[in-house]
Amino acid sequence: MSVLSLDKRPDGIAILTFDLPGEKVNKLTTPVMDELDRALDQLGAEREIKALVIRSGKDSTFIAGADIAEIRSITDAKQGQALSRRGQEVLAKLERLPFPTVAAIHGACLGGGLEFALACSHRVISNDPKTALGLPEVKIGILPGFGGTQRLPRLVGLANSLDMILTGKSVYPKKAKKIGLADEVTYRETLLPSAIALAGKAAGRPRPTKVRARRPLIIRLLESNPLTRMLIYAKAKKTVIEETRGHYPAPLKALESVRYGLSHGLTAGYRRESELLAELIPTETSKNLISVFYLSEALKKDPHPSSVKVSRAGVIGAGVMGGGIAQLFAEKGVTVRMKDVTTKGVGAGLKAAADIFRKRQKKGILTPIEARDGFDRITGTTDTTGFRNEDIAVEAVVENMEVKKAVLREFEGIANEQAIFASNTSSLSITGMAADAKRPARVVGMHFFNPVEKMPLVEIVRGQRTSDETISAIAALSRRLGKLPVTVNDGPGFLVNRILMPYLGEAVRMLEEGGTVLDIDRPLLRFGMPMGAFILLDEIGIDVAHKVADILRLGLGERMTPSPLLGALYKEGYLGKKNRQGFYLYQGRTRGGPDPFVHRKLATPGKVVRITDEEIVERAVLLMVKEAALCLEEKIVDTPEHLDAALIFGIGFPPFRGGLLRYADKLGAKTVVEKLEGYAKKYGERFTPPVSLAGMARSGKGFYG
Ligand code: NAI
Repeated sequence: MSVLSLDKRPDGIAILTFDLPGEKVNKLTTPVMDELDRALDQLGAEREIKALVIRSGKDSTFIAGADIAEIRSITDAKQGQALSRRGQEVLAKLERLPFPTVAAIHGACLGGGLEFALACSHRVISNDPKTALGLPEVKIGILPGFGGTQRLPRLVGLANSLDMILTGKSVYPKKAKKIGLADEVTYRETLLPSAIALAGKAAGRPRPTKVRARRPLIIRLLESNPLTRMLIYAKAKKTVIEETRGHYPAPLKALESVRYGLSHGLTAGYRRESELLAELIPTETSKNLISVFYLSEALKKDPHPSSVKVSRAGVIGAGVMGGGIAQLFAEKGVTVRMKDVTTKGVGAGLKAAADIFRKRQKKGILTPIEARDGFDRITGTTDTTGFRNEDIAVEAVVENMEVKKAVLREFEGIANEQAIFASNTSSLSITGMAADAKRPARVVGMHFFNPVEKMPLVEIVRGQRTSDETISAIAALSRRLGKLPVTVNDGPGFLVNRILMPYLGEAVRMLEEGGTVLDIDRPLLRFGMPMGAFILLDEIGIDVAHKVADILRLGLGERMTPSPLLGALYKEGYLGKKNRQGFYLYQGRTRGGPDPFVHRKLATPGKVVRITDEEIVERAVLLMVKEAALCLEEKIVDTPEHLDAALIFGIGFPPFRGGLLRYADKLGAKTVVEKLEGYAKKYGERFTPPVSLAGMARSGKGFYG
């Protein structure tokens, strides 16, 4: 294998090109590190080299990082430590070369790739949107183990480095320059000449023996004060604990590594870094997070490329979802015509979209020009003008079959023959909606999750007559919008809501039995769910939950019968957060304690029964497992991977558990079935284990084989 090629120029500046054969991106695998090690030995002995420029031979990556497959295969701490020590040694050799080294970075420079660049004396980067520098290791449950926790804080300062290391967030060109991570930012076309020029300038000077800070003096002074440092550590730790709720050990260990290195010096710091990495690599959390990473990578790939190009879209219904969908399309370059019944409705949708653009501009995700151009792509209407030319219409009108059918009829009357009609319905049958359609092959479900700008999943619903071409077009479109598409077959509640509802329903039943809102929400949060069941019910809306529960009961039978409390609250006008009347009290947008009214509405108000935390989690989560098994039996979804991905990216099922079915496999089908049977005896048939699960319990197999 030859990854590295050297071009020695007459002026003494050599150019080393990194190009891993047969791969789309450069990775630091063990064989690559071996080759790099040998190359560095040779380079170190070269007399005529005055400076070295290192660039990538790939289109849009510098180096994407270490090899995740290799990390996944390591199950033993010693092996993990060896991997880290080896990486540190090779990069130390790079750092010790007797001449300046300039990394010329275009595209992704992540993880081990950034650690590599940090071991160079200089970094020049392209100002391309593809250029991103980051240490995303914590996202797969580990920490940067090739010296990143030591070199980065010394280069960009403590606060800036923690912001990157503890969150895994990338920085983009402008910020990279500002914090001193990049020495120069230039156009992609001038990257190499700029790097050569910088190398030439640096060539005459002695190469610095250690990382030199390039951040502003005031920050350096502040951060050199031990007291300030203590404060930064304390604040970082508090934030990490709040955000991870103790489920993700990596950020705390990364913090420890940075702190140790800054107080004990580099040599001790590198050692500590590798020890801490070794502790993290074999953990179940890391292995699960790596599975989730692979799930998302798989969904990003397009198995059936589509030839349908979407440049103009209609969004019908400018409410909560319509506004968000219009914004997303417009941000990604699609011209949007947004329709509602009244101008007031259209205005509200436009405002919602404008608010999201503003928020994203404030966060630095969009430049002011991008935000303005994006918003300018949306126009509003109360009639159908402009709809003749749309490639697609996404409807997000009220959840009512007759209204949706009328909207579809109207669209088919004016749209061109090729146009797709995508419904954002959360529960109505796509097959039913298309029953009288002129072109049912072009009717499909495109189910976004709320809030659209944040939730990564699009659940694509295939009606009985939806064509493969339509499915591929929507999948490609979803990817273009930056979303992860999972295709499911039509059925009550499709996949995600069908599995979510029994979980929410069981929480309400436990409340009826005498549990309290807080006592039920707390263990669910501790299990890792992003929200307690009642917080989520308030967010979704009690009216919506009630309606979906009804649809599920009609379609799937008695086991889906919701607790009477849900209906009672709905009749009282309790709609959840949107009208500030829900399971919790609301003051403006802030949530307070539980609403005492809810407890008064119970069948036996005032009765308090202590249900153990274990039982609360088991009843809620195992009902999800049961429903998931049924969805696989009924082929609503094709694989356990897709099911797990849909729940993680759609409702935030805890990633550190690797997915609902991975969690079930960990418990073991036998245990799951025994527990379900136990609850079935106590609480009724809704817990009866499905055939496939019972079979797994007998055969000892799991969902993942
Ligand atoms: P919403 O009530 O906020 O908005 C609906 C909008 O549609 C209103 O502005 C209304 O004036 C408009 N509308 C009603 N009939 C119309 C017609 N014939 N032509 C044009 N506009 C019409 O509702 P929301 O929450 O945005 O939901 C819309 C759809 O999205 C529903 O099907 C819902 O099930 C689905 N959905 C909702 C989610 C949520 O969390 N809110 C999540 C995922 C899907």
